[in-house]
Amino acid sequence: MADPKAGRKLRSQEWFDNPDNPGMTALYIERYLNQEYTRPELQGARPIVGIAQTGSDLVPCNKIHVFLTDRIKAGIRDAGGVPMEFPTHPLQETGKRPTAALDRNLAYLSLVEVLHGYPIDGVVLTTGCDKTTPAMLMGAATVDIPAIVLSGGPMLDGHWQGKLVGSGTVIWESRRLLAEGEIGYDEFMERVCASAPSLGHCNTMGTASTMNAMAEALGMSLTGCSAIPAPFRERMAMAYRTGRRAVELVREDLKPSDILTRAAFENAIVVNSAIGGSTNAPPHLQAIARHAGVDLDVTDWESVGFHIPLLLNMQPAGEFLGEAFYRAGGVPAIMGELDRAGHIRRDPMTVTGRAMGGNIRDIRSGDSTVIRSCNEPLRADAGFRVLHGNLFDSALMKSSVISVDFARRYLSHPGREGIHEARAVVFDGPEDYHHRINDPALDIDAETILFIRGVGCVGYPGSAEVVNMLPPDAVVRQGVNHLPTVGDGRQSGTSESPSILNASPEAAVGGGLAYLRTGDRVRLDLNEGTLTALVDDGEWQRRKADWTPPHLVSQTPWQEIYRTHVGQLDKGGCLELATAYRRVARDLPRDSH
Ligand code: FES
Ligand code: MG
Repeated sequence: MADPKAGRKLRSQEWFDNPDNPGMTALYIERYLNQEYTRPELQGARPIVGIAQTGSDLVPCNKIHVFLTDRIKAGIRDAGGVPMEFPTHPLQETGKRPTAALDRNLAYLSLVEVLHGYPIDGVVLTTGCDKTTPAMLMGAATVDIPAIVLSGGPMLDGHWQGKLVGSGTVIWESRRLLAEGEIGYDEFMERVCASAPSLGHCNTMGTASTMNAMAEALGMSLTGCSAIPAPFRERMAMAYRTGRRAVELVREDLKPSDILTRAAFENAIVVNSAIGGSTNAPPHLQAIARHAGVDLDVTDWESVGFHIPLLLNMQPAGEFLGEAFYRAGGVPAIMGELDRAGHIRRDPMTVTGRAMGGNIRDIRSGDSTVIRSCNEPLRADAGFRVLHGNLFDSALMKSSVISVDFARRYLSHPGREGIHEARAVVFDGPEDYHHRINDPALDIDAETILFIRGVGCVGYPGSAEVVNMLPPDAVVRQGVNHLPTVGDGRQSGTSESPSILNASPEAAVGGGLAYLRTGDRVRLDLNEGTLTALVDDGEWQRRKADWTPPHLVSQTPWQEIYRTHVGQLDKGGCLELATAYRRVARDLPRDSH
């Protein structure tokens, strides 16, 4: 029997309702009946909607989803579907060593296998903590069954001594106060913990809020989904509506491939600039685009996104936190403001069943201190610069966090605006940095550029958030909080450092950073978009010829598999062999017995 509303046979019926093969049908169905399901449900041509559960005791950022699941399931059932919740590989940014970035591709692989190999017609992707959103979207793109994102939402705003304290940003600030001797260990701990007052993900515009905003801008969540704080009642209502809509998506056969187009990714890049989004968004969006088969290049981040103004006044680029963003209208208000200035592509289809233009038409900021219009932005040209040179083919610099002080110190030499020439000090990984940063022999002063290498996808492994290096204590005491820093790793989306990061190819695979030495002169030229080691070519070639790849020690089998197959950050840090697999739901797997 075909689903009367879908007008076609559902994928799940190949398992649960196949009279041509009673033996297998019985085997597939009997064990599911010993829990909450009945034959009329499983054999009644009702869409079976998976709930990809990312929350657990190991993933506190997404724990809210454990409590939202009842509402998702109610929505699925009320719309005539049957819910089936399943766990995903845990991805807790603050808990997983050596880095949750190593596991993004593992969670992706596991989701692909579940969605392909089980009787699932559509899926609710629960998202929150940084890597959970890209892992879920990458998997949905590869499998290409109807899918919808439900964000868990940020925590409530944090407060300390009457002031807002935001996730991550509080750590960078408190680290400086500790280095300056202004606060002690206990106050350091209390301040940081005050930034996390409830369930939810980071309440700043770090990678979590950025990636959930990206999911909404791509058209993969209901309008207004991403910014609702986790504990708000509106979050429960959104969970219910998302569950309902998932069933309709199956009936309409509206799939990620109908939504994840080049135009949708351009909207996401534009929104990322306007919200002062994380430098982790480029690798994650590149990865989603590649699994969706969409042509997106790291240089698109500058050509599409650089000239977009900063509209959102939220930490780390601004002052406020998640509650204020939500009350001012969230992503729909950002997109509405951008749309009125002609920056949004209106045509991409979205999970609402309407094109993006229809979802956001005439939505305005509800509070101009938090969300500005394009006529009065917080700053112009807020997107990323994409740099190149003999040290790397590409690296990113986040313009929205370049402070007036930083620009004056490094980028405003009269007659040489945008150009900074300095001596390089090079660290091999974060342990080397922590060990030597305060060594007076390195002679680090306000005119030094700090480099860190060996921290990319292959080198670390997984690519570590360590490029935003604090200057030596003595330099901080002179009032210099940020030296220019460069590296083949990443930095936290909550950092306000204007680092040059995600350098690709990384040093561990022979990228230019491998040949740099402490004491070399380097030139940053933002007019040309270059960062260059001023080492003569003959000498540079000699260093290259003498270079031997580092001896990499993998501690687990997955680390070795990952290192063997991972690509570079500018290409999304994907498992390269996985990008050849597209729309795998079209081919049913063989029977299990
Ligand atoms: Fe999980 Fe920031 S650490 S959202
Ligand atoms: Mg992080």
